[in-house]
Amino acid sequence: MTYVSASAPGKFVILGEHSVVYGKPAISVAMNMRFSIRVKRSDRYMVNNQPAAPYNMSPHMRYISDKIGTSPVSIYVDGRVPSGSGLGSSAALSNAYAAAISCLEGLPTDEESIARLAYEAEYAAQGRGSPMDTSASAHGHAIALNVPYDDEDFLWHIDNGERSWDISKIDVPEMHFVIGNTGIKAATGPLVEKVREYTESSRFASEIIEELGDVALDGMKAMKNNDLEELGALMTYDHRLLSILGVSCNELNHMVDAVLPYSYGAKLTGSGGGGCMVALTDRPDKVSKEIRAHGGTPYIVKTGVPGVTVKMREGDGRNRRRWRQKKKGAPTGKSKE
Ligand code: PMV
Repeated sequence: MTYVSASAPGKFVILGEHSVVYGKPAISVAMNMRFSIRVKRSDRYMVNNQPAAPYNMSPHMRYISDKIGTSPVSIYVDGRVPSGSGLGSSAALSNAYAAAISCLEGLPTDEESIARLAYEAEYAAQGRGSPMDTSASAHGHAIALNVPYDDEDFLWHIDNGERSWDISKIDVPEMHFVIGNTGIKAATGPLVEKVREYTESSRFASEIIEELGDVALDGMKAMKNNDLEELGALMTYDHRLLSILGVSCNELNHMVDAVLPYSYGAKLTGSGGGGCMVALTDRPDKVSKEIRAHGGTPYIVKTGVPGVTVKMREGDGRNRRRWRQKKKGAPTGKSKE
């Protein structure tokens, strides 16, 4: 029996969420929480040993299965990226599933092919959005979108209607980030839609989108100069702008304010409305304590992680049991204090 296992990381955003949807610059970093998937051919769709009709699978998986035209598979999913939390869980799922099915069907599994297919799946499921999450998860490490880059750092270019994004890899200096999860789940699509409505009806809101893009460009310069004070200040400013756009919430604002005395800067990360904030800090333990004191769950994240990985194996049930046991030791998206 042929098994394919694939995995892809979640991400957080240093600067540029929401404005990246309008083709503005952004910086995103992959982290050590991953979505892992294992598939094998089957006479019907199964997910984690339960029969699953294609119509009640995740829309991302359904899109990918339909696009590739694969025959039914049995899927074992092990998601360690909290969903609806701004950490790119659906992008990680889409990348891992796209890589697994592409490999099973003998299609290309290079980062770019997977990033493109996963973005199509995300876009089809959400009806909107940028290729930031899917590209960050496919490439791993750290990426920037629509910033000036050297030729050797260019990864790929993605167009969608009148928007387009040049995606490049970037080096990030040694930095420590702590994520704080409010535990409030918020879907990306409605928040992106809310920003679209506001931006289309208000010149003030479209100026904020421009400003968020400029802040991300300044952030790139600060990172190149290893200027963490400046980068942190830009992150905090970015949070204030996102709050004005209406995508923050009290819980996020309280957590951001609480960690600032121990951080270079902090902001919500991802689509907001709940979900997570991220702090750039030299004092991860102190920041984690503040996050807890404000009702959140802290994760001290590791960066510099690989993007999508995929492996085909011939095996039997023993391999599968080993895989599941190995996954038990992987980071779970629970507290990393
Ligand atoms: O909340 P997440 O992890 O889905 O991140 C969304 C990031 C946005 O910029 C708000 C949307 C997008 O597609 O780029």
